[in-house]
Amino acid sequence: MEHALDITLTVNGVEVSRRVAPRTHLVDFLRDELGLTGSHIGCEHGVCGACTVRVNGEIVRGCLMLAVQANGSRVDTIEGLSDSGELKDLQKAFHEKNALQCGFCTPGMLMAAQDLVREKRKLSREQIREHISGNYCRCTGYQAIVDAIEEVIHGQG
Ligand code: FES
Ligand code: FES
Repeated sequence: MEHALDITLTVNGVEVSRRVAPRTHLVDFLRDELGLTGSHIGCEHGVCGACTVRVNGEIVRGCLMLAVQANGSRVDTIEGLSDSGELKDLQKAFHEKNALQCGFCTPGMLMAAQDLVREKRKLSREQIREHISGNYCRCTGYQAIVDAIEEVIHGQG
């Protein structure tokens, strides 16, 4: 591979090393190199939020970050958060409130929602809407998504 670079990062708690083309986006690296296809690709220019992942604890757009920029970082994807049980309350609420239809937006939506849940603040519906305003959903009309997030946030001790 011409001009390839070696990178090492920790993905969902596992250290991985790969040789990548410098122009490879993080979400493509996760999907194509590591088979972590839970992070979706929608707009590919930072608008829809389908590609949301966590890098060193902060949610980022996987389509706006290069894999080489994540060298040395800790990356967590929907698969990692799901396997660890971190998302279980949100997953249950999304299921019970019918907060998903096609599910394409759901991984990114859950990543963004969990970012709020971790803050443990009792937010209003407007504040929840504001926080997820960078995550597009073509199916649900958002009402049920906000209901689900609100239930988890307000159910926390
Ligand atoms: S695919 Fe990254 S924000 Fe849409
Ligand atoms: S459930 Fe289909 S895009 Fe959100």
